[in-house]
Amino acid sequence: MVEQLIVTKTKKSQKYIQLLAGVTELLKDSTDLISAMANLAAALKYSFNFFWVGFYLVNGDKLTLGPFQGPIACMEIPFGKGVCGSAWQNKKTIIVEDVNKFPGHIACNSASKSEIVLCVFDGQKVIGVLDIDSDKLASFDAVDEKYLTNFIQLLNNKQIPHY
Ligand code: SME
Repeated sequence: MVEQLIVTKTKKSQKYIQLLAGVTELLKDSTDLISAMANLAAALKYSFNFFWVGFYLVNGDKLTLGPFQGPIACMEIPFGKGVCGSAWQNKKTIIVEDVNKFPGHIACNSASKSEIVLCVFDGQKVIGVLDIDSDKLASFDAVDEKYLTNFIQLLNNKQIPHY
């Protein structure tokens, strides 16, 4: 496999397109959801220098911390709580320009200033969320939502492992 996914573009949408091609190739032969999430988190974190990129997995009535890149983070988030739990409850992407203005935001790290959370689906069912945090305000918009949705679709054929 390749050692590194090189992203040379500078415009955000072009960077996403270039990285998506590399990640698609990287994940194409894997069937394991967790290892695919782990490499996806690393690819996004190191290509965009986001503060924190990671997955939370649905575990009963809460989200449990899954594969991530960045500082240590909250390990459990109840259904409907915080940005992640709200995205799960509403089955919708949430973009937060200023986390201090989101009622109930869960601050795992005080350096986080803005955030995007997208749901990972198995059919109609939410099985997890992708959470990306920035240490700058208003880092995320509809462009991020559009391309990150494509990245999440790469997880569609992957299975939760039973080791
Ligand atoms: N801020 C999130 C919690 C997860 S951390 O940001 C990694 C939330 O409000 O759900």
